This record gives sequence, C-alpha cells and structure tokens, in this order.
Amino acid sequence: MTLPLVTANGAAIPPIGLGTSQLLNEVGVASVKSALQAGYRFIDTAARYDNEEAVGEGLRASGVARKDIFLLTKVYWTHLAAADFKQSTEDSLKRLGVDHVDLLLIHWPNPKIPLAETVGALNEMKTRGLTRHIGVANFTTAHIEEAVRLSAAPLVVNQCEYHPYLDQSKVLAACRRHGMAFMSYSPLRQAGAGGPLEDPQVAKIAEAKGVSPAQVILRWHIQQPGVIAIPRSTNPARIAQNIDLDSFSLSSKEMSDISGLARPEGRKVKPAHSPVWD
Ligand SMILES: NC(=O)c1ccc[n+]([C@@H]2O[C@H](COP(=O)([O-])OP(=O)(O)OC[C@H]3O[C@@H](n4cnc5c(N)ncnc54)[C@H](OP(=O)(O)O)[C@@H]3O)[C@@H](O)[C@H]2O)c1
Repeated sequence: MTLPLVTANGAAIPPIGLGTSQLLNEVGVASVKSALQAGYRFIDTAARYDNEEAVGEGLRASGVARKDIFLLTKVYWTHLAAADFKQSTEDSLKRLGVDHVDLLLIHWPNPKIPLAETVGALNEMKTRGLTRHIGVANFTTAHIEEAVRLSAAPLVVNQCEYHPYLDQSKVLAACRRHGMAFMSYSPLRQAGAGGPLEDPQVAKIAEAKGVSPAQVILRWHIQQPGVIAIPRSTNPARIAQNIDLDSFSLSSKEMSDISGLARPEGRKVKPAHSPVWD
C-alpha cells in the first residue's frame, strides 16, 4: 500500500484501518491477521467491543512487528470518571497483550461526568506512556472546543460516523481548525439495504473505473484532507479490496457528486446516549 499517512497534531496515522466491532473470538483473530497480512497497519478496537483479546491474538499471529502497527482502543462512556478511566485503559492493555496503544479515545461523551475530569485522566494515560496519542469519538463541535481547551496534550482525532449519506461538514471544519484528523466510522454505513453501497450514482462511478462501490466510497473518504476511514470486514477478499485504493482517484466533480448524496435521515448509529448532534 502506498497511501500516504495522515498527519495530525504530531501523529502519523494510516488512512485506512480495520474496524473490528462485532468481530469476536476466532472471527476477530482471523480478520485482524488477514488485514495485517494484506498490508493494513492500523487496527481500531474498543473496551466495549469485547474483542481485545482476539485483536491482540490477531496482531501476534500476523507476524507483523508491534512497532509497525498503529493500535487504537477506546474507553466507554460508562467509565469516564478518572479512576474508572484508568482502570479501563489498564484492562484494555492487558487484554490486548501490549504495554501501550498508539491512540486512546474517549468513546462517547458523558454529560454526567465533568469533561475536565475525563480529559485529565486521558492526558495522564499519555503521560504514563500507556498511549502515544489521545483523542475523542462522537464529539460534537461544542465538545471539541471544550476538550481542546481542557487538554494539555493535543487531541489528534475525532472519530465519528461519516459516509456519503451523512453530512459532517461542521465537525470536519472543527477538526481542521484544531489540526485534528477526522476518523470516519461506519464508512460504508454498515452495508445495510438502501445504503450508499447500493446507490446508483456510486455504482455508475465504480463501473466506469472498474472498481467496487466500496472502493469508490473509501476513496471518497481518504481523498478528503485529514480524513481516515476504518471499514470492517470479515471477508479476506473485501479486506484486501478496502485498502486497494491507490490505482484510481475521483475527480472534484465525482467527489462533490458523492458528497451531494447526504440526506437528513442518513445517520445510522443513534444509541440512547448520543449527544445532540450538530
Ligand atoms: N466510535 C464509535 O462509536 C463507533 C461506532 C461504530 C463503529 N465504529 C468503528 O468503525 C468500524 C466500521 O464501522 P461499522 O462496523 O459500523 O460498519 P462499516 O465498516 O461501514 O460496514 C461494515 C459492513 O460492510 C461490509 N463490507 C465491508 N467491506 C465491504 C466491501 N468491500 N463490499 C461490500 N460490503 C463490505 C461488511 O461485511 P463483510 O464482513 O461480510 O465484508 C460489514 O457488513 C467498526 O467496526 C468500529 O471499529 C466506531
């Protein structure tokens, strides 16, 4: 893979990582191993995914050196009080079988716990060397402003839902204002029926370029400055396809046509603990 790394506030992050939610046990081990052997160097997990042991086993089974892998985990919104946050991080490292991760994120904001307390704990994890970089996920523009103000060390990403059916221009602008990368989760909108993978406009571009709709969508993500995407797949052929993105590019018209597919009901991930989105 020759895709250039995305740089953000001192971090250098591969533009495509493997998403691993729902990839449990042997499926998790096999998918992580397959991705690393196909050239991925970035794996996204979370304490909440209940698969950190499997991810760790996949890393070791791949034969790729730990130092060459960008490993990300997250602390769930139920664990944002300082003591819980530290415990969650230490438990994640144990389960993964590593002494540090490359990026540690607050998984969701929690309005019941002062952000200053959580951001303080996040910074302490970095100071103690348990993570190389720190960041957030599911933060709105208001949360980003507050977190940036509170954090001693720079935040390097905000990980949020993003795909052609969801306009994230406000959050993207806030990230760029603060030198942060935007990390797109559910970049394929979870491949559900009626989603962008089945969109006729995406299909038309894919056909003209001789690539798949998923490749068009992933290329659309990473062709935007400072955007990283973390598609999930258990299928070795699709895992390989999702990182094979440097043999074609999208014109500025194709980029804006795909962005133009955004719609008000496009958001897919809407748990009860969601913040009020921008
Ligand atoms: N921070 C957060 O709150 C948060 C929330 C949601 C997700 N995430 C992260 O983001 C990752 C990705 O998001 P996601 O898992 O929600 O959904 P996604 O990556 O948008 O979609 C995954 C689905 O797409 C299919 N797929 C993958 N590649 C394909 C291809 N080339 N062609 C056709 N179908 C393809 C997969 O099926 P196959 O397995 O059969 O290929 C799977 O059903 C997660 O795994 C997780 O790591 C974070």
